[in-house]
Amino acid sequence: MDSKDFGVAILGFGTVGSGVYELLHGAALPIEAKYAVRFHVYKILVRRPGAIRAKPVPPGLLAKGISEILADPRVDVIIEVMGGESPAREHILESLKAGKHVITANKKLLGACGDTIAEQARAAGRFLGFSGAITGCHQLCPSIARSVMIRSLMGIFNGTSNYILTRMEAGQSFADALAEAQRRGYAEADPTEDVDGIDSRNKLAIMTKLAFGKLLDPREIPTTGIRQLSATDMTFARELGFAIKLLAVSRMLEGQRLYASVRASLVPLEDPLAGVQGAHNGIQIYDALRGAQAMLAPGAGSQPTAMAVFHDLISLARGEPNLWPPPTTRDRAEPIHLVKVPSPGEYYVRMNAKNHPGVLAAITRIFAQGQINLANVLQKGAAGAATIPVVLLSGPVEEAAINTAVKKIQATGDVDSCVLARVERLQERN
Ligand SMILES: NC(=O)c1ccc[n+]([C@@H]2O[C@H](COP(=O)([O-])OP(=O)(O)OC[C@H]3O[C@@H](n4cnc5c(N)ncnc54)[C@H](OP(=O)(O)O)[C@@H]3O)[C@@H](O)[C@H]2O)c1
Repeated sequence: MDSKDFGVAILGFGTVGSGVYELLHGAALPIEAKYAVRFHVYKILVRRPGAIRAKPVPPGLLAKGISEILADPRVDVIIEVMGGESPAREHILESLKAGKHVITANKKLLGACGDTIAEQARAAGRFLGFSGAITGCHQLCPSIARSVMIRSLMGIFNGTSNYILTRMEAGQSFADALAEAQRRGYAEADPTEDVDGIDSRNKLAIMTKLAFGKLLDPREIPTTGIRQLSATDMTFARELGFAIKLLAVSRMLEGQRLYASVRASLVPLEDPLAGVQGAHNGIQIYDALRGAQAMLAPGAGSQPTAMAVFHDLISLARGEPNLWPPPTTRDRAEPIHLVKVPSPGEYYVRMNAKNHPGVLAAITRIFAQGQINLANVLQKGAAGAATIPVVLLSGPVEEAAINTAVKKIQATGDVDSCVLARVERLQERN
């Protein structure tokens, strides 16, 4: 069988771009032997052509600008791995207009305008691949995109924050775990996007689109991160039978209501996501027809992301259709709307309370006044200490009731800091 040839241009030659080039160049022979395809990289675009890099751009491939790439008839597919919203958006739209296929790893851009890009790809009859934008879960995407009865999905979509939480489970403070993640190259100097849940919510927007057909505005998704947690929380949670993870959740409720959030949450220890360690990612889906499905995988980095991009290249070579769902008729007839308040659930509350007789009774009394059942109460600490941690696990309750109780307790002056986290189970309890 003759091999098919594809001309490639890579926009960006950083962590991902150089990884894609190394894979296509270094593994060209096994790729051709297995898939009967040859990928030729003809052009590479960077922002600072003269910069000295750990991995230099191969000689002769540096493009002067996007126009040179668009005008090159040898280039069939553009791989956008430069990041940011602009000019990535313009480059992608111009590439589609010029008849090129597009593969992107840009989760921020897809979260912001994935529908527009997908619509243009469809109108132009061109392939749009985006596995690199959801590296750790991309192999499950075809199944998610083709399902019809997904009820909920829960994911650990950010390897950096999961690495930090894993180190905190081993007893490190948040600050020490973050410093270690930065030393190992998992976290940027400014870790905001990772530890405050912003990266996770961009990926949640994409996964929610695949599962439910609706592209949420990521900025509308209620999002909190992991900065408020301490190693003590990890220990208490484990004692109660849970791990704490930065969880991205979306769940279809009755009446076209879609709940979505990114927040530190308690996951039962028997849940596959509780076992996601270090910089890995994981996803779990509940489908009314197929039951539960889960997948754990490396979520980022040069090689895993290059492999996700390669997955798209093979889909393109095989003539597979685009996975990004078209606007749903269901959403057009009766729009799906985002719900920011979750259904009743169980909550973990940790407070640092003044160590005086009766403090625990005073706290539990306020919960009782709010009609909140407590499933577990833990009070630990040294006898003579000025403050002691008090941990409560509620039964199913509205989040507003928990917030009211916590505010009342804080108003007594008996407690200072307070950590609140929701228990997330794949299937909601009725
Ligand atoms: N890193 C990961 O593990 C990972 C995982 C999944 C998805 N992604 C996504 O992949 C994309 C790239 O990430 P990365 O980590 O590879 O970034 P990176 O290491 O910062 O590399 C970005 C590359 O894009 C080039 N670039 C940036 N702006 C440009 C512009 N205006 N014009 C031309 N070139 C430009 C840069 O040029 P210079 O070299 O001249 O600065 C650099 O080569 C992002 O969308 C990211 O979210 C990354």
